[in-house]
Amino acid sequence: MTTFLLNNQTIQTPLPSGTTVLDFVRYHKHLVGTKIGCREGDCGACTILVGEIENGHLRYHSMTSCLMPLSNAQGKHIVTIEGLNMEELSPVQQAIVEEGGTQCGFCTVGFVVSLTGFTMHQPTHLTGFENLSGVSPAIAAIDGNICRCTGYKSLERAAAQIAQKTVDQPKENRLQWLVENHYLPHYFLTIRERFEALPDSTFSKKQNKGNGTFVGGGTDLFVQKPETMANASIKPIFDQKELNGIYEAGGHCHIGAAVTATDLQESPLMQSIFPKLRQHIKLVSSTPIRNMGTLGGNLVNASPIGDLTIFFLALDSSIVLNTNGNKRTLKLRHFYKGYKTLDKAPDEYIESIFFEIPKKTDHFHFEKVCKRTHLDIASVNTACLLKMDGETIQEAHISAGGVGPVPMYLERSSATMKGQKINADLIKKTGAVIQEEISPISDARGTEEYKRLLLRQLFFGCFLEMENNELRLGELV
Ligand SMILES: Cc1cc2nc3c(=O)[nH]c(=O)nc-3n(C[C@H](O)[C@H](O)[C@H](O)COP(=O)(O)OP(=O)(O)OC[C@H]3O[C@@H](n4cnc5c(N)ncnc54)[C@H](O)[C@@H]3O)c2cc1C
Ligand code: FES
Ligand code: FES
Repeated sequence: MTTFLLNNQTIQTPLPSGTTVLDFVRYHKHLVGTKIGCREGDCGACTILVGEIENGHLRYHSMTSCLMPLSNAQGKHIVTIEGLNMEELSPVQQAIVEEGGTQCGFCTVGFVVSLTGFTMHQPTHLTGFENLSGVSPAIAAIDGNICRCTGYKSLERAAAQIAQKTVDQPKENRLQWLVENHYLPHYFLTIRERFEALPDSTFSKKQNKGNGTFVGGGTDLFVQKPETMANASIKPIFDQKELNGIYEAGGHCHIGAAVTATDLQESPLMQSIFPKLRQHIKLVSSTPIRNMGTLGGNLVNASPIGDLTIFFLALDSSIVLNTNGNKRTLKLRHFYKGYKTLDKAPDEYIESIFFEIPKKTDHFHFEKVCKRTHLDIASVNTACLLKMDGETIQEAHISAGGVGPVPMYLERSSATMKGQKINADLIKKTGAVIQEEISPISDARGTEEYKRLLLRQLFFGCFLEMENNELRLGELV
């Protein structure tokens, strides 16, 4: 039985826990405001808000209901457009109307939901139109929503209008302010206490035992095999307390496997270690997918271009695997045995990942190139960590995606840099070893030659981005 709040209603359903929230709200609750577009997380027509208590605060995140299993709704507040509608238009809906942001209306629900989510969770570190990769946070909040007929300028104006109206409003008691100003219906103020009447939303360890499929955020599984997942036996790990959390211990950073890309992006510890973290994670999928997709899912999916995998391979990370309470630790780079073949038993799950925290004088860089800047998988991605001892490279770790059957840790290339000083000759020499180590193939994302050239340039880019370096591109080519 799955129990959760759906808009202003308490739900208890015996439906299979692999049923998507989209199918549940449309076909079982007849809430047809939530639309079906792609069913692959790409269009945002099915966007919902998902509320839960995080560190004592009620927080809402946008998610794509087409990829979210009912198991991940357990103990949460699921909000569809019907749960946002009031007698009058909300300021979000009004702004879209005023700016001419809707025509056929198919996508409009998703935009309203995402922008309402933005008003509830306006980043505290930003004011006004401070930019995230040149995009205002309000516009960034609709990065997972596609409109086929209106044109984005009117939607951007609507987003800007909403940002202007809400940016200076209180961050404390935000829900109260949003209700008083008709952004949200009044029942939102009762949600917190109604959570307490629901059964515990965390899952016990025994759910990791027995047969079944481990499910993190479902953003790979429900794209790859939606029919199978609908009736599959599910071992949900998204909400397990033991698999969440990011902390430092003994000079290492430890990250639970169920931590999402958004959790990584918002982690003060991760931000302190990687000053460019926001820009890097911003290149991964879209806001709703980052709110769902987990680190463990990215690693186990074993896509040769998995962004988080490439990021953590270059940190020379280790993973902790667990089978029925028996744990073992493995270097992430030894996890990948061949195309989608892992050093992992079927009933083994990743519990956490950890890496030695680089020193401030070390260099880390991540690069990704796709056909579109946002909401696209990489053609090629790469990351590089240089651990420095003065001017000498004590250790180098280079990873690359899209250039082989697995996410690649470039062992020989990394060894080439060890004990050397950074200069153009070394970078060119390492670049040549990289070309020997990789084996890209021509496909829809580019020809072999293109991918080889791209990785060469991205690798050079890692050095050009370094602070205090005196290298010039001309020296490298
Ligand atoms: C629209 C869209 C855009 C995307 N863009 C990107 C992108 O830009 N970059 C990118 O890298 N990825 C992207 N992805 C892929 C996906 O979002 C990520 O790979 C994500 O991290 C997967 O995590 P998940 O929790 O959703 O995985 P799930 O779908 O839940 O699981 C994936 C696999 O991992 C297994 N699994 C999950 N957690 C564990 C665990 N702890 N232990 C053992 N097995 C586990 C599952 O059984 C399954 O086999 C995108 C996906 C979509 C739908
Ligand atoms: S239907 Fe397109 S993202 Fe869900
Ligand atoms: S208004 Fe028609 S798809 Fe956006």
